[in-house]
Amino acid sequence: MIFREEICFRTRLKPIPGLPLPVRRFTSANPFYTVRAGHRHRTERPAIPSAENRRFVLRSRPVRLAGPENFELQRGPVPEIGDGQALVRIEMAALSAWQGMRTKDFKNFIRPFDIGELISCDTFGRVVESRCEALPAGAAAVGRQGWQDYAAVRPEDVSVASDAYTAEEWLTALSSPGQTPYLAFSQKVRPMPGETLVVTSAAGAVGSYAVQLGKLAGARVVGIAGGPEKAAFVRGRLGADAAVDYRAGSFRDDLAAACPDGVNLYFDTVGGPVADAVSERLALGADILLVGRVAANNSAEPERDMANLRHVWSQEATIHSFNRYAYKDLYPLVIGRLGALLRAGRLAMHNQVVDGMERTPAALHDVLSGNHVGKMLVRYSDSGASPI
Ligand SMILES: NC(=O)c1ccc[n+]([C@@H]2O[C@H](COP(=O)([O-])OP(=O)(O)OC[C@H]3O[C@@H](n4cnc5c(N)ncnc54)[C@H](OP(=O)(O)O)[C@@H]3O)[C@@H](O)[C@H]2O)c1
Repeated sequence: MIFREEICFRTRLKPIPGLPLPVRRFTSANPFYTVRAGHRHRTERPAIPSAENRRFVLRSRPVRLAGPENFELQRGPVPEIGDGQALVRIEMAALSAWQGMRTKDFKNFIRPFDIGELISCDTFGRVVESRCEALPAGAAAVGRQGWQDYAAVRPEDVSVASDAYTAEEWLTALSSPGQTPYLAFSQKVRPMPGETLVVTSAAGAVGSYAVQLGKLAGARVVGIAGGPEKAAFVRGRLGADAAVDYRAGSFRDDLAAACPDGVNLYFDTVGGPVADAVSERLALGADILLVGRVAANNSAEPERDMANLRHVWSQEATIHSFNRYAYKDLYPLVIGRLGALLRAGRLAMHNQVVDGMERTPAALHDVLSGNHVGKMLVRYSDSGASPI
């Protein structure tokens, strides 16, 4: 079987022949991050554009999908920074299904939010005040500062992001959405040319990159998504070989028609009845990458998931649980690889951007209910309004 080296798989990550490396300058221990030239290290508090810090905390736990009623908007002063800290003004927040999962109190690889706790999420922001040499004013900071306008951070809380990439790129292709399938395919099971890869929530954040990376690996890719528009997006824009609408009454027949030789690799982000249907199509010796459980998480009984392991057993399939956090050491390397694919035009971003911090809870509800395509981002502020 031919091995294509566009993306690098299973045992070790290899360079991508013929692709330019992303433009970057080398500073400090991490070659992928750099500080914008010309920004000063400030010790005095500049004029902060907004005198208050708004933040969303968890008010109550949802029974099914988290929505605005489950979050409380609190208003307080902009945090004061101490020695060794910097004040980051959040410009963009990335919404993900795991934030909804953490609003519920059930066993999980990441603990649930407490009632009254700030909601965490990946963020892109700029340092607007600094008492820390490593985080000079003006530097772009990528971290997990959550649903708030400002955060007081230490260097270990954020990565100083290179201006070689935009905020949207840092929060999507180069972050969890791109990294998750890249790492799952390179470190667990690689899609093989000629074999069939099935991806669920294929029009979503992680799924949209899993489809594209699967195609780059040479696999035959079948995407599963909710509704005919999303199925058309998965085929037409993401380049899947086939797309199946799991909400259609003919779902099981459509899936069988799209996978005539069975499913060799199943990238499972949802679990539940969709995973049961895919399990019926598994080829002998198939691999299953367990990446997420959206269907179970969204239900009133999150501990219930697939109803039937019979086909997994009878097809001698192997289940591989995947957690991106186990590969933190590889993040810089993977960012370089994904950046190269982006700049070469071989990987495309599909983002939905909502304006206004106060719309964050409603935007999360849209993510959980599938009322979005690609990655959902919320713009909190823009650097044009920065006092620096
Ligand atoms: N293991 C890891 O390291 C890792 C890292 C990142 C993310 N994840 C997981 O990956 C999954 C996707 O996350 P994401 O942030 O990219 O979300 P997303 O795919 O952008 O959004 C979730 C999607 O799930 C689909 N969905 C909702 N209810 C469903 C149901 N009952 N059955 C089938 N599909 C349903 C919806 O799409 P449709 O409209 O198509 O139904 C919705 O768009 C999550 O489970 C997340 O926890 C895992």
